Amino acid sequence: MAFTWPKGHNNASTPHGVAAMEFTIKSGSPEKQRSACVVVGVFDNRKPSLSAELVDRASGGYVSEIIRRGDMEGKLGSTLLLHNVRGTLADRVLLVGLGKERDFREREFRSAMRAAVRLLNETGSYEAVIYLTEEKVKRREVAWRVEHAVVVAMEAVYRFDELKSQPAEVRRPLRKLTLSVPQRSDLAAGEAAAARGIAIARGMDLARDLGNLPGNMCTPAYLAERAQTLAREFEFGCQVLERPQLEELKMGSFLSVTNGSEQAPRFIVLEYNGAGKKQKPFVLVGKGITFDSGGISLKPAHDMDHMKFDMCGAASVLGTFRTVAELKAKVNLVGLIAACENMPSGRATKPGDIVRSMSGQTVEVLNTDAEGRLILCDALTYAERYEPAAVVDIATLTGSMVIALGHIACGVFSNSDPLARALINAGEEAFDRAWQMPLWEEYHEGLNSNFADFANVADRAGGSITAACFLSKFTKKYDWAHLDIAGVAYKEGKEKGATGRPVPLLATWVLSQETATA
Ligand code: BES
Ligand code: MN
Ligand code: ZN
Repeated sequence: MAFTWPKGHNNASTPHGVAAMEFTIKSGSPEKQRSACVVVGVFDNRKPSLSAELVDRASGGYVSEIIRRGDMEGKLGSTLLLHNVRGTLADRVLLVGLGKERDFREREFRSAMRAAVRLLNETGSYEAVIYLTEEKVKRREVAWRVEHAVVVAMEAVYRFDELKSQPAEVRRPLRKLTLSVPQRSDLAAGEAAAARGIAIARGMDLARDLGNLPGNMCTPAYLAERAQTLAREFEFGCQVLERPQLEELKMGSFLSVTNGSEQAPRFIVLEYNGAGKKQKPFVLVGKGITFDSGGISLKPAHDMDHMKFDMCGAASVLGTFRTVAELKAKVNLVGLIAACENMPSGRATKPGDIVRSMSGQTVEVLNTDAEGRLILCDALTYAERYEPAAVVDIATLTGSMVIALGHIACGVFSNSDPLARALINAGEEAFDRAWQMPLWEEYHEGLNSNFADFANVADRAGGSITAACFLSKFTKKYDWAHLDIAGVAYKEGKEKGATGRPVPLLATWVLSQETATA
């Protein structure tokens, strides 16, 4: 039976129910702000920040008195909400712990910001003026602080409760944040950075929504529809190929994965042209397995529901397109998404089956659960027609990636060290980190097959590397990198849900190409 998705949900611009948050950039003294709340930092060992000191002075030493009493030690992420602080024009003053002053870096800035926004969202303030963006972060300018403040704030208020019949209401949700910058001359940079942050956060929201939608709703056809809606709204090209066209293209490897499913596959082609026709495009390729049961090589029941997240690579491509198109970036960008389900059935591909990929190379499918590489390889061959400047594929490809790097960084595999470097740098700037893994020749041997050109799996050792080696056999004609996002695309346990990663990394990388080629 078809499930009707709640009204308005084909609207790609407001990914879901939460009303948009508004941001303003301002420069001025904290004690003079007429606001529901003014947010200032306190460093570890009870050292007020500059803005906390201004509030303290205006209040005749009230803040320092509270600090002296031991109610705010400055521990990173701690909070203390004060009401009716005399000498100030705001209803409240929120003290936020920043940790040790000399250790105040990217991670600490983001934690303090997150703690502040969470508290504001849970208490009565529906707007606030935040002074944390005035604190110095080593190596980072005011633009970085503003962009990250926006992204972290929007990340913190994100909810996915549309499928609950009675969503838990936040009674006075946070609607408006004013971010303070040190000087009036910082206003322009601050505003541009806020726009960037909003675009990135909305791209992440879209990726999170799609990731969180279950497999019975987020089917290949649904993904294609959302792609078309997005393309219409932001005026870029979108073409959706269905089974007959995929057969014509001889995508035998991709199609072999769809054999066991009742859901028809889709191959989504996105084309955003923000630069001159002569500029070679960058291509993003997303793994869009809308549910990965493992196929005949069936997965164990435990945590199998996580495999609804197996389209997070595809979702990150759509999210990045949203960001890039909203910012009208001057780059040419192509998105390729191979979308299907991996299911067992009497018609499903069997271990030992041999398929012919679009490249002409044959593959012995020893394990039907190694399906991501089978759909990606044909998409990577399709990418050749663009004579791309570079191709980056994004995939929840292997469990062994999670063993290698955990949930902190994704793995980067590349046939071009400069490309890998550029992606890692973008990840660092976006605090959406990536770490390079090897693709040495020795790792390729495991894929040898007695019957086909190669097999789709090697033994368990170095599983994320041998998976990348498989892909590299299809990427000889261009600079290519593969991001294995199995560990970072979603969270498990109490906070189960999609993260929106690596949209910040990808968007930052694509935007950096804009300045490089402008
Ligand atoms: N989608 C999975 C990878 C995955 C596992 C992502 C856990 C997120 C969390 C992929 O299709 C898969 O099943 N990979 C296998 C490959 C193996 C059969 C060589 C794996 O990693 O176990
Ligand atoms: Mn699998
Ligand atoms: Zn998979």
